[in-house]
Amino acid sequence: MKVVRSIAEVRQQVKQLRQQRSQGGGDAVVGLVPTMGFLHDGHASLMRRAKQTSDIVVISIFVNPIQFGPNEDFERYPRDEQRDLALAEREGVDVVFMPTVEDMYPAPTKTHVTVAELTDTLCGASRPGHFDGVSTVVTKLFNIVKPDEAFFGAKDAQQVAVIKQMVIDLNMDINVVACPIVREVDGLALSSRNVYLSAEEREQALVLSRSLEMIKQRVIEQPELTAGDIRSMLRSEIGTSSIAIIDYAEIMTFPQLEAMEDRAVVRDVAGEVIVALAVKFGKTRLIDNAIFSPS
Ligand code: PAJ
Repeated sequence: MKVVRSIAEVRQQVKQLRQQRSQGGGDAVVGLVPTMGFLHDGHASLMRRAKQTSDIVVISIFVNPIQFGPNEDFERYPRDEQRDLALAEREGVDVVFMPTVEDMYPAPTKTHVTVAELTDTLCGASRPGHFDGVSTVVTKLFNIVKPDEAFFGAKDAQQVAVIKQMVIDLNMDINVVACPIVREVDGLALSSRNVYLSAEEREQALVLSRSLEMIKQRVIEQPELTAGDIRSMLRSEIGTSSIAIIDYAEIMTFPQLEAMEDRAVVRDVAGEVIVALAVKFGKTRLIDNAIFSPS
């Protein structure tokens, strides 16, 4: 496994591996897994998925300052380079790209990639500028690594919708693959931010996966259920945790992320819906979601 820290080096490495592994057959397929590090089994699942179809697996580890708001956790975002490298090595990653902030942003970027509409709701509404930061850095990573395919987790479902739209709109020749959410045995979705939780907060955070499961079950049992019913059920279920503070608890169409009126019957949606949660436990804001076809 090669660990490279500059843009020039990663370009060179990928080029070299592409040449080596393309010998004989067709072109080697390059897969990219973008991450911010402090890797866990959710990240590892993306690497495993990448290995299924990519001849060369590249991961990036970069805590991207421009996707954090001024009062967010950029400075204290957890980092553990040695552990990350050990995990990547175990998963058979070929190249780890760990650029510095200076390399990625030698000067403040004057160019931003903005995906409209899809970023007006959910995390986009709570975290102004966040998705511009994400789509801008992902575009840079795509231009640097030039992958054929890129892997993202459904844990950040809005991010998947935004990146897929960006790739379509800007004709990026990259196959964006969404991978399922990896959870702890008790249901908590894996997240680098889970380390911030106290034992009490960790316990209370189980209300997220529990309420998503409950909603999925209710939609099966009660055909007449409306979006409004779901919103109130989410609020009362999450309200059973004394410390949970809801940022949003929403149901929308997916991947369009169109709002549903309170009186809209969920089963009438022909495609998929997303039930999306962002809830604070103490200082830590956690997100979780379920995407399913209600009809
Ligand atoms: P990060 O939060 O490190 O996540 C990297 C990738 O891992 C994302 O695609 C995310 O959805 C996925 N992931 C995280 N937890 C997961 C889980 N429990 N199950 C499955 N996948 C999971 O998302 C980012 O970084 C950044 O915004 C990035 C795309 C790297 C741009 O900076």
